[in-house]
Amino acid sequence: MSGFFKSSIGRKYAMALSAFFLMFFLLQHFAINILSVFSPDAFNEASHFMGTFWAVQYLLQPILIFGVIYHFVMGFYLEIKNKNARVVKYAKNNGAANSSWMSRNMIYSGLAILAFLVLHFIDFWLPELNTKYIQGNMSGLLADGESFRYYEELVHKFVNPIRVIAYVIAFVFLSLHLMHGFSSAFQSAGVTSMRKEKLQIFGKAYAIIIPLGFIFIAIYHHFNH
Ligand code: HEM
Repeated sequence: MSGFFKSSIGRKYAMALSAFFLMFFLLQHFAINILSVFSPDAFNEASHFMGTFWAVQYLLQPILIFGVIYHFVMGFYLEIKNKNARVVKYAKNNGAANSSWMSRNMIYSGLAILAFLVLHFIDFWLPELNTKYIQGNMSGLLADGESFRYYEELVHKFVNPIRVIAYVIAFVFLSLHLMHGFSSAFQSAGVTSMRKEKLQIFGKAYAIIIPLGFIFIAIYHHFNH
């Protein structure tokens, strides 16, 4: 088994597996975040559950952290390996004839997402760790029972227009990354051409709708705080 994942095809397969896991994470992250637009109470409840339920904290979160790191490290590795494998460079490597523009730039859109994640962790994850483990407040409630976390924190973050612009730019890169990543992952997973067309449409819809939804959330809170 470990031999399989060390082989070239095994690595591509594992890369696709981590990609599917991250796409699933993104979907549930979006589903919870969009609640903040319709019902702050529901958003707070869902966030509190995700932040305190043991299976999420001690099972899913470590898998997510591993998945993110694996995806980035392996992405770099495959990029370098593919570049080196092309000993004789393409005679013409700047046209759509060899590959699409986006497929050649996955590493750059990936780097933009990595930069976003650093900012995002500073914005949301560090305050979370601080409240829970340094200040020791697991409930997210003040002494009078008022919630000061989740919705309050989220709305506060999107007051600054520079942060909103940085997030929107990152979500455009996310869309570009997903646009190619989805079909690439299915190719690595060996999906036959019969089913491919419908999946392509689904993949493109996902790559547009989810980042657009995140853009909507950021802009909505900027104008409605
Ligand atoms: C408007 C868009 C977004 C908002 C408002 C948002 C908000 C949040 C919030 C409130 C948390 C939870 C912090 C906590 O644990 O209390 C979080 C965690 C996280 N977000 Fe986002 N997020 C957005 C977009 C994204 C995107 C596009 C990605 C991925 C590319 C992402 C990746 C993550 C990750 C990896 C975590 C850590 C999950 C964990 O707690 O285990 N977020 N985000």
